[in-house]
Amino acid sequence: HLSAPSLWGIPLKYFSLVTLAVQNSTLTIIMHYSRVSTPSSQRYSAATAVLMNEVMKGLISLIIAFSRLDSGHAPMYDMTQAAGSRGRVTRLRRLWRDVFSPDCWKLSIPAILYVIQNNLQYVAATNLEAATFQVTYQMKILTTAAFSVMLLRKKLSSTQWVSLLFLALGVGIVQIQAGANNGAAVDAANHLLDPLRGFMAVTAACFTSGLAGVYFEMVLKGSQADLWVRNVQLSLFSLLPALAPIILSYRGQESNGVGSFLSLLFRNFGVWAWATVAVQVLGGLLTALVIKYSDNILKGFATSLSIVISFLSSVALFNFHMTFTFLLGSAVVLVATWLYNAQPKRTAYFPISRPCD
Ligand code: C5P
Repeated sequence: HLSAPSLWGIPLKYFSLVTLAVQNSTLTIIMHYSRVSTPSSQRYSAATAVLMNEVMKGLISLIIAFSRLDSGHAPMYDMTQAAGSRGRVTRLRRLWRDVFSPDCWKLSIPAILYVIQNNLQYVAATNLEAATFQVTYQMKILTTAAFSVMLLRKKLSSTQWVSLLFLALGVGIVQIQAGANNGAAVDAANHLLDPLRGFMAVTAACFTSGLAGVYFEMVLKGSQADLWVRNVQLSLFSLLPALAPIILSYRGQESNGVGSFLSLLFRNFGVWAWATVAVQVLGGLLTALVIKYSDNILKGFATSLSIVISFLSSVALFNFHMTFTFLLGSAVVLVATWLYNAQPKRTAYFPISRPCD
């Protein structure tokens, strides 16, 4: 067991949870604003944002993984290798070996799922109001639970099952509000948002979130590999699926060459697009920390707290009209989240087979 690590005297566990809550709501708002504040013809490419997210997250994780080898933190690190003049080269070789380990392919599955999820998130944020998106996205607790039961053989209490039903009910109530608000929600060019499209995107994102999260947990807990090395592997496997839609859209262009490719890639990619990417990178790193230093149960708390923050910000920033149905649905979602999390930690972890050797 690790001793409790801390940052500026705050245990990393609480630091990552509170920061994740703030990050979650900031991302929802910034992403929504960055998409609807310009007419659709002047929007930046969501595919580029997803790619940049993976590149930056991968680089940061690589630096952290390397520095952990430097200080001998990585599991099973042979300290004698760190000594001597060839220490740095040895460490780089060691890092290379870790990243391209025989089991690295296992990360390809969550990597593809997360790329799909991150793209769907943009579709949802473009077509749903920030607060509606935030609440509906809570359905991922439902999918995470289902996949945990199926793949990790987690045991859920009857209270937890009931709370999951309430969660679905609450999301349903919020959707009534989203439908009723249909005519009111518009983007910068006065185009109507498309709540049905947004809802379908968020539902699909909940499935990929649940499956990817559980799969990542399975790979992480089934081996000794360092979390940051796993993150590098995750980002590496994300590059190809993240690049695919960009290359496909570039094939249709008449001009070619690196210059025109880059200008297509970063067309309309302004300050708000970079801000969205930066907040998303932070979220990815925090998610990794939360998985490592606390657990998915506490992660649920963090995201439910972010609902409240998003609500209040949406009302203040986007003139969001809070109706009784919206409040009722959100309250049901919050209570259901609390009920689900208020269980004693007796959930067992029994992998069906050892995922990693
Ligand atoms: O909402 P959810 O928890 O499913 O979101 C996970 C997010 O964190 C995704 O955007 C995913 O790309 C990112 N992530 C990450 N590194 C991990 C796990 C998740 O960047 N190890």
